Amino acid sequence: MNLDFSAIADSIPYILKGIGVTLEIAAFACVFGFILGVLLSLIKLSGIKPLQWLADFYTSVFRGTPLVLQLIIIYMGIPQMFPSIDISPMPAAILAFSLNSAAYISEIIRGGIMAVDKGQSEAAQALGVSYTSMMKDIILPQALKNIIPALMNEFISLTKESAIVTVIGALDIMRRAYIVGGATFHYIEPLLVAGLIYYIIVLILSYAGKLVEKRMRIGD
Ligand code: ARG
Repeated sequence: MNLDFSAIADSIPYILKGIGVTLEIAAFACVFGFILGVLLSLIKLSGIKPLQWLADFYTSVFRGTPLVLQLIIIYMGIPQMFPSIDISPMPAAILAFSLNSAAYISEIIRGGIMAVDKGQSEAAQALGVSYTSMMKDIILPQALKNIIPALMNEFISLTKESAIVTVIGALDIMRRAYIVGGATFHYIEPLLVAGLIYYIIVLILSYAGKLVEKRMRIGD
């Protein structure tokens, strides 16, 4: 078998530097996606039909088309349509991943809110609690607790999916592995290193998710 990791040993620190890029995309997308996702889920449950249709349409478009397509449209399409805007790979990646993730997160949150016992909102309404306060202080905290595992899953998905930013030239783990392959003519070794890095990141994130879940259960 022809596998020679010593040929790419010097390049490993270069690949490792991609971890920051990968995590930056996933973390920003998760935060922005969460904020937009909460808004979308509240709109979906608002009972205001035209807004609900818009939120549902948003979700169906972003879940119904490939993320890699959305990414390329944002990266190449924005400068073509608005020549004064020059978007570089990182902001384009964060924007595409945030918009995409919001669609998924809004469904996670909507499910979480609907799973909170109806008696909670009935009691709040009977006591004259305002809609905003009921959502913010009673319903959302309970919903969030139940959806932590699903949100953690989303974060893990984003971390792995972020490998597609390679196509727009962001220097993430995957792209760096490619570059090292091209420079050393050893293609498989850097890809295996990249795979191992992704796998370790996911193991750590899964473990962190379990810890958070455990902490949330303490109050039960
Ligand atoms: N590969 C899928 C796509 O291209 C995944 C989309 C992103 N997934 C997510 N959980 N945000 O559509």
